Amino acid sequence: MELVDDLTTLRRRVRAWRQNGEHIALVPTMGNLHRGHLRLVQEARAYAQRTVATIFVNPMQFGPQEDFGAYPRTLAQDRHLLEEEGTDLLFAPTVTTVYPRPPEEQTRVEVPGLSDILCGASRPGHFVGVATVVCKLFNMVQPDLAVFGEKDFQQLLVIRRMTEDLCLPINIVGVPTVREADGLALSSRNGYLSPEERARAPAVHRALLAAAEGLKAGQGTDEVEQRAAAELEAAGLAPDYVSVRRALDLALPGPADTDLVILAAARLGKARLIDNLRFSRAR
Ligand code: PAF
Repeated sequence: MELVDDLTTLRRRVRAWRQNGEHIALVPTMGNLHRGHLRLVQEARAYAQRTVATIFVNPMQFGPQEDFGAYPRTLAQDRHLLEEEGTDLLFAPTVTTVYPRPPEEQTRVEVPGLSDILCGASRPGHFVGVATVVCKLFNMVQPDLAVFGEKDFQQLLVIRRMTEDLCLPINIVGVPTVREADGLALSSRNGYLSPEERARAPAVHRALLAAAEGLKAGQGTDEVEQRAAAELEAAGLAPDYVSVRRALDLALPGPADTDLVILAAARLGKARLIDNLRFSRAR
């Protein structure tokens, strides 16, 4: 696997593959890879002859008080894991390659509506940062498809909408969340948890499972959201939100909506944990 940090080499490699008639899959990441990321690579390899992974800790998607500086950077270990998984090329650009201009002069990509709710309400500007960097990575790599984890369900919908609205000829593939045996969704930020916090963290998944059961049994959305938030608090987490939404577009569900997702974000020590559960409600 080749490690590339400049655009000229990246484009040369991708062009050669394309001229060979090979399809290219992209797996964008911020590094500190875990089994969840490696599932994305496996999925990419099932769809395309060539897989490009990117590692870029994107400053634009972090708020001023967030963990950009502390975000774990483990390039040597990540490179080894990607190589073992059969990735063809790792693109790990510097900040100036991705953002040649100062932040205030940078062209931005905004997906209105979807970006301002849930995680977007708690993290203003976050999804503009995500949409902008993913759009740039799409233009740099020009893949046929790109693979993202469903753990970041709102991010996946923002990226799908951005791709559709900007007429990018890229197929967006979502991959189910990979979990620890106790239900905790894998995340690079789980590394911020102390052993004692780690033991409490599966409360998020448990609360979502109980909420989905409640909804299937005919309980109201307000009731299950409040109960899930109370369960998180009882486990020592500080819930940011627990919300039942329509899976298609994250709108508030009406009585006729059956394809639903319940999403939660909660703080635990230095970590902000997010998770979601998609489910069908009988009409
Ligand atoms: O999910 C992530 O790791 C990031 O938000 C992404 C999609 C790589 C954009 O920086």
